[in-house]
Amino acid sequence: MARKKIALIGAGNIGGTLAHLALLKGLGDVVLFDVVEDMPQGKALDLMEAGPIAPWDCQIKGSNDYADIAGADVIIITAGKARTPGMSRDDLLGINTKIMTSVADGIKKHAANAFVIVVSNPLDVMVTLCKKLTGFPKHRVVGMAGVLDSARYRSFIALELGVSVESVQAMVLGGHGDEMVPVRSGCTVGGAPVTRFIKEDRLAEIEERVRKAGGEVVALLKTGSAFISPAHAAIRMADSFLNDKKEVLPCAAYLDGEYGYKGFYLGVPVRIGAGGVEQVIELRLTADEKKQLEESAGHVRQMVEGLV
Ligand code: LAC
Repeated sequence: MARKKIALIGAGNIGGTLAHLALLKGLGDVVLFDVVEDMPQGKALDLMEAGPIAPWDCQIKGSNDYADIAGADVIIITAGKARTPGMSRDDLLGINTKIMTSVADGIKKHAANAFVIVVSNPLDVMVTLCKKLTGFPKHRVVGMAGVLDSARYRSFIALELGVSVESVQAMVLGGHGDEMVPVRSGCTVGGAPVTRFIKEDRLAEIEERVRKAGGEVVALLKTGSAFISPAHAAIRMADSFLNDKKEVLPCAAYLDGEYGYKGFYLGVPVRIGAGGVEQVIELRLTADEKKQLEESAGHVRQMVEGLV
Protein backbone atom coordinates (compact mmCIF):
# COMPACT_ATOMS: atom_id res chain seq x y z
CA MET A 1 0.00 0.00 0.00
CA ALA A 2 1.38 3.40 -0.96
CA ARG A 3 2.15 5.83 1.82
CA LYS A 4 -0.25 8.66 2.51
CA LYS A 5 0.81 12.18 1.57
CA ILE A 6 0.59 15.13 3.92
CA ALA A 7 1.04 18.65 2.59
CA LEU A 8 1.84 21.41 5.04
CA ILE A 9 1.16 24.93 3.77
CA GLY A 10 3.34 27.24 5.84
CA ALA A 11 6.75 26.15 7.13
CA GLY A 12 6.96 28.37 10.17
CA ASN A 13 7.02 27.19 13.76
CA ILE A 14 3.78 25.21 13.55
CA GLY A 15 4.56 23.87 10.05
CA GLY A 16 8.01 22.65 11.10
CA THR A 17 6.60 20.99 14.22
CA LEU A 18 3.81 19.40 12.17
CA ALA A 19 6.39 17.93 9.79
CA HIS A 20 8.37 16.53 12.71
CA LEU A 21 5.29 14.96 14.33
CA ALA A 22 3.96 13.53 11.06
CA LEU A 23 7.32 11.80 10.48
CA LEU A 24 7.64 10.59 14.09
CA LYS A 25 4.16 9.09 13.93
CA GLY A 26 4.77 7.62 10.47
CA LEU A 27 1.61 9.24 9.10
CA GLY A 28 3.02 9.48 5.60
CA ASP A 29 5.33 11.36 3.26
CA VAL A 30 5.45 15.09 3.92
CA VAL A 31 5.66 18.13 1.65
CA LEU A 32 6.56 21.28 3.54
CA PHE A 33 5.54 24.29 1.45
CA ASP A 34 6.25 27.97 2.03
CA VAL A 35 6.54 31.06 -0.16
CA VAL A 36 9.81 31.97 1.58
CA GLU A 37 12.67 30.65 -0.54
CA ASP A 38 15.04 28.01 0.85
CA MET A 39 13.52 27.94 4.36
CA PRO A 40 11.19 24.94 3.84
CA GLN A 41 13.98 23.15 2.00
CA GLY A 42 16.30 23.82 4.96
CA LYS A 43 13.81 22.49 7.50
CA ALA A 44 13.09 19.47 5.30
CA LEU A 45 16.78 18.68 4.92
CA ASP A 46 17.32 18.88 8.69
CA LEU A 47 14.38 16.52 9.24
CA MET A 48 15.50 14.14 6.50
CA GLU A 49 18.90 13.84 8.13
CA ALA A 50 17.25 12.93 11.45
CA GLY A 51 15.48 9.97 9.78
CA PRO A 52 18.09 7.27 10.40
CA ILE A 53 18.42 8.11 14.09
CA ALA A 54 14.79 8.90 14.97
CA PRO A 55 14.11 6.59 13.08
CA TRP A 56 11.55 7.07 10.32
CA ASP A 57 11.30 6.02 6.70
CA CYS A 58 8.78 8.51 5.40
CA GLN A 59 10.08 11.09 2.95
CA ILE A 60 10.09 14.84 3.38
CA LYS A 61 10.44 17.51 0.74
CA GLY A 62 10.62 21.28 1.17
CA SER A 63 9.07 23.31 -1.64
CA ASN A 64 8.07 26.75 -2.96
CA ASP A 65 5.94 25.22 -5.71
CA TYR A 66 2.29 24.30 -5.19
CA ALA A 67 2.68 21.61 -7.86
CA ASP A 68 4.50 19.53 -5.22
CA ILE A 69 1.34 19.12 -3.13
CA ALA A 70 -0.34 17.17 -5.94
CA GLY A 71 -2.07 14.04 -4.71
CA ALA A 72 -2.03 15.08 -1.03
CA ASP A 73 -4.47 13.17 1.19
CA VAL A 74 -4.35 15.81 3.91
CA ILE A 75 -3.41 19.48 3.78
CA ILE A 76 -2.76 21.45 6.95
CA ILE A 77 -2.73 25.22 6.47
CA THR A 78 -0.76 27.27 8.96
CA ALA A 79 0.27 30.00 6.50
CA GLY A 80 -0.21 33.52 7.80
CA LYS A 81 1.10 35.89 10.38
CA ALA A 82 1.04 34.93 14.04
CA ARG A 83 0.21 37.27 16.90
CA THR A 84 2.75 39.31 18.80
CA PRO A 85 2.11 40.71 22.31
CA GLY A 86 -0.90 43.05 22.52
CA MET A 87 -2.59 41.69 19.38
CA SER A 88 -5.83 39.76 19.28
CA ARG A 89 -6.31 36.95 16.79
CA ASP A 90 -8.81 39.22 14.99
CA ASP A 91 -6.07 41.78 14.28
CA LEU A 92 -4.63 39.28 11.81
CA LEU A 93 -7.73 39.31 9.61
CA GLY A 94 -6.55 41.64 6.82
CA ILE A 95 -3.12 40.17 6.16
CA ASN A 96 -4.18 36.55 6.60
CA THR A 97 -7.17 36.95 4.27
CA LYS A 98 -4.74 37.86 1.48
CA ILE A 99 -2.56 34.88 2.27
CA MET A 100 -5.54 32.47 2.43
CA THR A 101 -6.70 33.66 -0.98
CA SER A 102 -3.50 32.50 -2.66
CA VAL A 103 -3.33 29.30 -0.58
CA ALA A 104 -6.90 28.35 -1.57
CA ASP A 105 -6.01 28.93 -5.20
CA GLY A 106 -2.95 26.65 -4.92
CA ILE A 107 -4.76 23.78 -3.26
CA LYS A 108 -7.76 24.00 -5.57
CA LYS A 109 -5.46 23.72 -8.55
CA HIS A 110 -3.19 20.98 -7.29
CA ALA A 111 -4.91 18.91 -4.61
CA ALA A 112 -8.64 19.25 -5.15
CA ASN A 113 -9.47 15.99 -3.37
CA ALA A 114 -7.60 16.58 -0.12
CA PHE A 115 -9.00 16.81 3.40
CA VAL A 116 -8.07 20.31 4.58
CA ILE A 117 -7.33 21.34 8.16
CA VAL A 118 -7.02 25.10 8.72
CA VAL A 119 -4.95 26.41 11.63
CA SER A 120 -4.38 30.04 10.54
CA ASN A 121 -5.97 32.81 12.62
CA PRO A 122 -8.49 34.27 13.13
CA LEU A 123 -9.40 30.61 12.88
CA ASP A 124 -13.17 30.56 12.44
CA VAL A 125 -13.05 33.24 9.75
CA MET A 126 -10.06 31.72 7.94
CA VAL A 127 -11.65 28.29 7.73
CA THR A 128 -14.96 29.78 6.53
CA LEU A 129 -13.00 31.69 3.89
CA CYS A 130 -11.03 28.60 2.88
CA LYS A 131 -14.23 26.63 2.28
CA LYS A 132 -15.75 29.47 0.29
CA LEU A 133 -12.67 30.06 -1.88
CA THR A 134 -11.94 26.40 -2.59
CA GLY A 135 -15.58 25.41 -3.02
CA PHE A 136 -14.72 22.12 -1.29
CA PRO A 137 -17.62 20.33 0.43
CA LYS A 138 -18.09 20.97 4.15
CA HIS A 139 -16.93 17.50 5.17
CA ARG A 140 -13.50 18.16 3.62
CA VAL A 141 -12.65 21.51 5.28
CA VAL A 142 -12.28 21.77 9.05
CA GLY A 143 -10.61 24.12 11.51
CA MET A 144 -8.28 23.32 14.40
CA ALA A 145 -9.04 25.19 17.62
CA GLY A 146 -11.19 23.16 20.00
CA VAL A 147 -8.69 20.32 20.33
CA LEU A 148 -6.08 22.82 21.50
CA ASP A 149 -8.41 24.85 23.72
CA SER A 150 -9.75 21.65 25.31
CA ALA A 151 -6.21 20.39 25.92
CA ARG A 152 -5.52 23.64 27.75
CA TYR A 153 -8.67 23.19 29.87
CA ARG A 154 -7.69 19.59 30.66
CA SER A 155 -4.10 20.58 31.50
CA PHE A 156 -5.16 23.28 33.97
CA ILE A 157 -7.74 21.03 35.68
CA ALA A 158 -5.21 18.19 35.95
CA LEU A 159 -2.63 20.60 37.38
CA GLU A 160 -5.13 21.92 39.92
CA LEU A 161 -6.06 18.45 41.16
CA GLY A 162 -2.73 16.67 40.77
CA VAL A 163 -4.21 13.98 38.53
CA SER A 164 -3.18 12.62 35.14
CA VAL A 165 -4.27 14.72 32.19
CA GLU A 166 -5.69 11.49 30.80
CA SER A 167 -8.16 11.32 33.70
CA VAL A 168 -9.65 14.69 32.76
CA GLN A 169 -12.14 14.99 29.91
CA ALA A 170 -13.33 18.37 28.70
CA MET A 171 -14.44 20.24 25.62
CA VAL A 172 -14.17 23.88 24.64
CA LEU A 173 -16.66 24.96 21.99
CA GLY A 174 -17.48 28.16 20.10
CA GLY A 175 -15.09 30.48 18.32
CA HIS A 176 -11.33 30.43 18.88
CA GLY A 177 -11.35 33.82 20.58
CA ASP A 178 -11.65 35.19 24.07
CA GLU A 179 -15.38 34.30 24.04
CA MET A 180 -14.71 30.57 23.59
CA VAL A 181 -16.93 28.31 25.71
CA PRO A 182 -15.35 25.83 28.15
CA VAL A 183 -18.20 23.36 28.69
CA ARG A 184 -18.17 22.91 32.44
CA SER A 185 -21.22 20.64 32.43
CA GLY A 186 -19.30 18.07 30.37
CA CYS A 187 -15.97 18.32 32.21
CA THR A 188 -15.20 15.17 34.18
CA VAL A 189 -12.39 13.84 36.35
CA GLY A 190 -12.23 10.05 36.42
CA GLY A 191 -15.74 10.07 35.01
CA ALA A 192 -17.22 12.29 37.77
CA PRO A 193 -18.31 15.92 37.28
CA VAL A 194 -15.47 18.39 37.86
CA THR A 195 -17.75 20.45 40.14
CA ARG A 196 -17.36 17.71 42.75
CA PHE A 197 -13.66 18.48 43.04
CA ILE A 198 -13.26 22.19 42.33
CA LYS A 199 -15.39 25.05 43.67
CA GLU A 200 -17.37 27.08 41.14
CA ASP A 201 -15.44 30.33 41.66
CA ARG A 202 -12.10 28.58 41.21
CA LEU A 203 -13.42 26.84 38.10
CA ALA A 204 -14.42 30.23 36.73
CA GLU A 205 -10.81 31.42 37.19
CA ILE A 206 -9.43 28.35 35.45
CA GLU A 207 -11.87 28.79 32.56
CA GLU A 208 -10.83 32.41 32.19
CA ARG A 209 -7.21 31.26 31.95
CA VAL A 210 -8.30 28.82 29.21
CA ARG A 211 -9.92 31.66 27.23
CA LYS A 212 -6.75 33.72 27.46
CA ALA A 213 -4.27 30.83 27.21
CA GLY A 214 -3.10 31.57 23.66
CA GLY A 215 -2.37 35.16 24.66
CA GLU A 216 -0.53 34.02 27.80
CA VAL A 217 1.94 32.13 25.59
CA VAL A 218 2.26 35.06 23.13
CA ALA A 219 3.05 37.44 26.01
CA LEU A 220 5.87 35.15 27.18
CA LEU A 221 7.33 34.25 23.77
CA LYS A 222 7.13 37.86 22.53
CA THR A 223 7.95 36.96 18.93
CA GLY A 224 5.05 34.68 18.01
CA SER A 225 2.38 32.34 19.27
CA ALA A 226 2.18 28.80 20.62
CA PHE A 227 3.31 26.16 18.15
CA ILE A 228 3.92 22.81 19.82
CA SER A 229 0.42 22.33 21.24
CA PRO A 230 -1.34 23.62 18.09
CA ALA A 231 0.75 21.19 15.99
CA HIS A 232 -0.16 18.24 18.22
CA ALA A 233 -3.82 19.22 17.97
CA ALA A 234 -3.82 19.33 14.16
CA ILE A 235 -1.91 16.05 13.94
CA ARG A 236 -4.49 14.38 16.18
CA MET A 237 -7.18 15.45 13.69
CA ALA A 238 -5.12 14.32 10.67
CA ASP A 239 -4.46 10.96 12.33
CA SER A 240 -8.18 10.40 12.96
CA PHE A 241 -8.85 11.05 9.27
CA LEU A 242 -5.92 9.06 7.83
CA ASN A 243 -6.51 6.04 10.06
CA ASP A 244 -10.31 6.28 10.10
CA LYS A 245 -10.25 6.47 13.92
CA LYS A 246 -13.59 8.26 14.12
CA GLU A 247 -12.52 10.27 17.15
CA VAL A 248 -15.04 12.76 18.51
CA LEU A 249 -13.08 15.99 18.67
CA PRO A 250 -14.09 19.63 19.14
CA CYS A 251 -13.30 21.31 15.81
CA ALA A 252 -14.43 24.31 13.81
CA ALA A 253 -17.06 22.75 11.54
CA TYR A 254 -19.37 24.25 8.92
CA LEU A 255 -22.79 24.52 10.53
CA ASP A 256 -25.92 23.95 8.51
CA GLY A 257 -28.53 24.46 11.20
CA GLU A 258 -26.83 22.49 13.98
CA TYR A 259 -26.89 24.37 17.30
CA GLY A 260 -29.18 26.87 15.51
CA TYR A 261 -26.42 28.32 13.27
CA LYS A 262 -25.99 28.25 9.55
CA GLY A 263 -23.46 29.24 6.93
CA PHE A 264 -20.23 29.62 8.91
CA TYR A 265 -17.74 27.67 11.01
CA LEU A 266 -17.87 27.30 14.76
CA GLY A 267 -16.25 24.98 17.31
CA VAL A 268 -18.48 21.97 17.97
CA PRO A 269 -17.83 18.26 18.58
CA VAL A 270 -17.44 16.34 15.34
CA ARG A 271 -16.57 12.79 14.34
CA ILE A 272 -13.51 12.65 12.09
CA GLY A 273 -12.91 9.52 10.04
CA ALA A 274 -12.04 8.48 6.51
CA GLY A 275 -15.06 10.47 5.30
CA GLY A 276 -13.63 13.66 6.81
CA VAL A 277 -16.05 15.47 9.10
CA GLU A 278 -18.57 12.63 9.22
CA GLN A 279 -20.95 14.05 11.80
CA VAL A 280 -21.60 17.13 13.92
CA ILE A 281 -22.59 16.05 17.42
CA GLU A 282 -25.13 18.20 19.26
CA LEU A 283 -24.50 18.33 23.00
CA ARG A 284 -27.10 19.29 25.55
CA LEU A 285 -25.73 22.52 27.00
CA THR A 286 -26.86 24.37 30.10
CA ALA A 287 -28.70 27.66 29.69
CA ASP A 288 -25.56 29.56 30.66
CA GLU A 289 -23.39 27.62 28.19
CA LYS A 290 -25.95 28.24 25.43
CA LYS A 291 -25.80 31.96 26.19
CA GLN A 292 -22.00 31.92 26.04
CA LEU A 293 -22.12 30.04 22.72
CA GLU A 294 -24.57 32.62 21.36
CA GLU A 295 -22.14 35.42 22.24
CA SER A 296 -19.19 33.60 20.71
CA ALA A 297 -21.14 32.68 17.57
CA GLY A 298 -22.39 36.26 17.24
CA HIS A 299 -18.81 37.50 17.21
CA VAL A 300 -17.72 34.97 14.58
CA ARG A 301 -20.79 35.70 12.43
CA GLN A 302 -20.05 39.41 12.51
CA MET A 303 -16.45 38.85 11.42
CA VAL A 304 -17.50 36.48 8.62
CA GLU A 305 -20.15 38.91 7.35
CA GLY A 306 -17.59 41.69 7.22
CA LEU A 307 -15.44 39.50 5.07
CA VAL A 308 -17.72 38.03 2.44
C1 LAC B 1 -3.23 29.81 20.10
C2 LAC B 1 -3.10 30.26 18.68
C3 LAC B 1 -2.39 29.26 17.85
O1 LAC B 1 -4.36 29.65 20.58
O2 LAC B 1 -4.32 30.60 18.15
O3 LAC B 1 -2.19 29.61 20.74
